[in-house]
Amino acid sequence: MEILKRLQLPAHLKPRPTDEANLRFGDIYSDHMFLMDYFAGQWRNPRIEPFGPLTLSPAAMVLHYSQTIFEGLKCYRRPDGRLALFRPRDNFARLNRSAERMSIPLLDEAFLLQALKELLKIDGQWTPSHPGSALYIRPFVFATEPHLGVRPSKEYLCLIITGPVGPYYKEGFAPIKIYVESYYSRSAPGGLGEVKAGASYASSLLATEKAAQKGYTQLLWLDSVQHRYIEEVGSMNMFFVIDGKIVTSPLTSGTILPGLTRASVLTVAAHLGLPAEERPLEIEELIAAQKSGRLSEAFGSGTAAVISPVGLLHYQEKDYVVADGQVGRITQTLYDELVSIQYGFKTDPYGWVELLD
Ligand SMILES: Cc1ncc(COP(=O)(O)O)c(C=O)c1O
Repeated sequence: MEILKRLQLPAHLKPRPTDEANLRFGDIYSDHMFLMDYFAGQWRNPRIEPFGPLTLSPAAMVLHYSQTIFEGLKCYRRPDGRLALFRPRDNFARLNRSAERMSIPLLDEAFLLQALKELLKIDGQWTPSHPGSALYIRPFVFATEPHLGVRPSKEYLCLIITGPVGPYYKEGFAPIKIYVESYYSRSAPGGLGEVKAGASYASSLLATEKAAQKGYTQLLWLDSVQHRYIEEVGSMNMFFVIDGKIVTSPLTSGTILPGLTRASVLTVAAHLGLPAEERPLEIEELIAAQKSGRLSEAFGSGTAAVISPVGLLHYQEKDYVVADGQVGRITQTLYDELVSIQYGFKTDPYGWVELLD
């Protein structure tokens, strides 16, 4: 399919942020967006247009039944000025797994990557160069058919929007405080936890807001059946260093998002000879390990923050300090290794980086 392009008039191009050191996350959008429609049983009309508002029927099914999925990836500017995507094919593969779970028609992954590359030929110059910044890329799909009644929509819109971002947390690469949630649930077995469905994030807001009011940056979700096993954080997978070994929850329950950064951390750890294991981890075991000094580090992993050190866990009315509230050695090593590959300070031995022309 040919991608039609209607470019913004030069006089209407937006000024790019000049203060790259103080970019926040998710507030600024580039000049153009990619769109594609689905109707009459087919994806069609791929096009790149100026970024702007969409027209939607008030009866669009997404507004009522939340049939919407998304992805998040980044484009990095390297020291030589070239742009690089990190594992984009894995993001589009996960978008299709989300589509399947949410009864959304599958998309052509190779075509979406081509569309993204064409979009970046136009807007790639929005990629900032300040350390820790990147161009965030948000592909998403939602149900547009005007219809009231619960069934899959017959019409959809797929979009890719981009925008320059700084650190995800205001703390930057500094330890965050996490609230272990023992009442609300994020995801049940057989539910939506292992895909990126908007509905999961909506259902997490209330608990996250309550924790934020108490001063915690993120929630650590426990399993929804017993509130006993550690699952993940709002937008990150979790890792703990216990007895010198990196531990993360397995993905077998289907309730945890298979993070690409998580997979990258496990690969890099193996490459560096750092012992790591995927195993169920009970919150009580974690707290006992903290009390006996066997828990030396904790960190989250995700595209937005890459690696985020955790300096404090709050569980059942008590605060537990981790790594003296500092960045642990293993956390720092993994962060440095991943960031060096993403920004091209080191060669990528894993085939994750996709350089743009
Ligand atoms: C719930 C959840 N867990 C984990 C992650 C981390 O996934 P990734 O490393 O692919 O960004 C994300 C972010 O996409 C997320 O939303």
